[in-house]
Amino acid sequence: MLASGTGSLTKALIDAEQAGELQAHLVAIGVDREAAVLDVAAAAGLPSFLVFPADFPSRDDWNRALANAVAAYKPALVVSAGFMRILGDQYLDKLGRITINTHPALLPAFPGAHAVRDALNAGVSETGCTVHRVIAEMDAGPVLAQQKVPVLPGDDEATLHERIKTVERTQLVAVVNQIASGAIAL
Ligand code: GRF
Repeated sequence: MLASGTGSLTKALIDAEQAGELQAHLVAIGVDREAAVLDVAAAAGLPSFLVFPADFPSRDDWNRALANAVAAYKPALVVSAGFMRILGDQYLDKLGRITINTHPALLPAFPGAHAVRDALNAGVSETGCTVHRVIAEMDAGPVLAQQKVPVLPGDDEATLHERIKTVERTQLVAVVNQIASGAIAL
């Protein structure tokens, strides 16, 4: 897992594994900053590692270090869930083939770090969430799964994001299981 935030999506995968509902075994959480997801990892007894961009002279060096840190766990799949960094070539050349990302909008609509706010500001009546393969262009890789979520009157960014994340958690678990079973080929 790669994450930067509160880690509720990470926790959904942890809970699914603990409930015997995940056809995968989580091996580690990687972060780019001190984040609440580290507590989620610790509570589950999962190893975590921090690859802090400011510790590296360039973005390329950071991408290379992140790829090495991830590859050390020999993952079959890397799930980026709220990892708020663009992955560059030095990462993607090594791990792009097995890296997926979840995004809180119906891509290609509303890419970027403020997808929920952008959807609200655009006045759409529905948005959603997308799991996609990661490529060098931000939030642009092939879509693996998508679900719609309504925008309701009175929504603010927090209420809408939480409604989206409720769907995102279930969708992410389902996609990981479909990849594990071969129903989705990467
Ligand atoms: C998710 O909506 C993800 O798509 C977005 O950040 C959120 C992560 O939520 N990029 P959490 O930190 O797992 O609760």
